[in-house]
Amino acid sequence: MPLTPVLTKRFGTNAPWQIENYLKLDGYAGLKKAFAMQPDEIIALIKESNLRGRGGAGFPTGMKWQFIPQNDGKPHYVVINADEGEPGTCRDLPLMMNDPHSMIEGIIIACYAVRANHAFVYIRGEAVHAIRRVTQAVNEAYAKGYLGDNVLGSGVRFDITVHGGAGAYICGEETALLDSLEGKRGQPRLKPPFPATNGLYDAPTVVNNVGTLCSVPYIVLGGAAWHKDMGPEGSPGTSIYSLSGRVKNPGQYEAPMGTTLRELLELAGGMSRGKELKFWTPGGSSTPLFTAEHLDVPLDFDSVAKAGSMNGTSAVMIFDEEDSVVQAVLKWTQFYEHESCGKCTPCREGNYWTAQILERIWHGEGTPADLDTLLDLCDNILGRSFCALGDGATSPISSSIKYFRGEYEALIAAAAHNEPALTGASA
Ligand SMILES: Cc1cc2nc3c(=O)[nH]c(=O)nc-3n(C[C@H](O)[C@H](O)[C@H](O)COP(=O)(O)O)c2cc1C
Ligand code: SF4
Repeated sequence: MPLTPVLTKRFGTNAPWQIENYLKLDGYAGLKKAFAMQPDEIIALIKESNLRGRGGAGFPTGMKWQFIPQNDGKPHYVVINADEGEPGTCRDLPLMMNDPHSMIEGIIIACYAVRANHAFVYIRGEAVHAIRRVTQAVNEAYAKGYLGDNVLGSGVRFDITVHGGAGAYICGEETALLDSLEGKRGQPRLKPPFPATNGLYDAPTVVNNVGTLCSVPYIVLGGAAWHKDMGPEGSPGTSIYSLSGRVKNPGQYEAPMGTTLRELLELAGGMSRGKELKFWTPGGSSTPLFTAEHLDVPLDFDSVAKAGSMNGTSAVMIFDEEDSVVQAVLKWTQFYEHESCGKCTPCREGNYWTAQILERIWHGEGTPADLDTLLDLCDNILGRSFCALGDGATSPISSSIKYFRGEYEALIAAAAHNEPALTGASA
């Protein structure tokens, strides 16, 4: 499987984040083409291309844009989700650092398509370098007439505001993000109503991920058929897979959707310490774990779901036979416990208890009843929480017990005999 640089094609070229260099490499050509089309034609093109959101859920982008009501007399907004907090995920930051203008170009096309004049880029607060880089690029775009009044003679004004986030994972959930952007505490809103009708400042709003919007100029330039030519029909295009953990050359690998872990490992030089693959996440820590038996599952939205997990953010974290699954799951669960916004009881209390139980199992103080209690807690969080953070928190726990129950039981049995808990090395 070859690498397919589309979104990453400017990575490694001469300072691609500067507008002069961007313009030399097809920069803003998609925007010019888009302005020659009617807004509805652009929405139809994106629908036809089958582009699915890269933020995790894989929602069809064209359909999302079409939900924005027209002629309603209200302002419309486009909000870019650049919070990127899912453990293991690292592709929005490289996109913004290397190629911020492709995101800006995608934003202006999206604004034009849904008749919005103002977009907000919500960047994870800790990523000060990306906030600076995108702010600089936005300033360049204003100076060159790609933002501001009468962009490229279209008679339309477009503005982009860059906003530093508040440093919480939950602010990546789109409605919590909107509350945070409005200056409130970032907590998810009840849905419906959905952001398409009642979003930022109660106005129709499109919320899209960075990678989704970066794809848009290429689709406008290349056409829907070109986009559908890469990857499977149901979720075409390319994906930037972020490989981390026990892999020789960790990093970002852009390849067609549907690439398998076996192929990605070949691209990345194989396992880092010559040990066997034990478990891995196909799309971040909120997606059920896979094992060596899933090496040939095509990594796209539909195939991964069919195999029992989720494609999520294509964040592939790789662990080998000397890594303890219990320890990895404990670390992730402590993350969810910390990041739970506290709005609903199943997630706020449940993640506190699952973290406590996992901690005592890992430290050799588990009891035989602990596994059933863990599964029962997961059952009470999954599907009963207010937002998908709660559901996602149960994924590593229940999937690890499904595949590695014996490892948990060995730790618990060692505790019963007062033996040192030695299962697995430190991750
Ligand atoms: C707890 C939580 C965190 C999330 N974090 C992010 C994030 O950092 N970036 C992102 O794009 N989407 C994130 N999402 C998904 C967003 O809610 C939303 O689906 C996405 O921004 C839509 O963009 P897309 O259609 O382009 O994928 C998160 C969802 C949840 C439940
Ligand atoms: S599931 Fe967790 S993060 Fe989501 S609203 Fe409930 S407490 Fe907050």
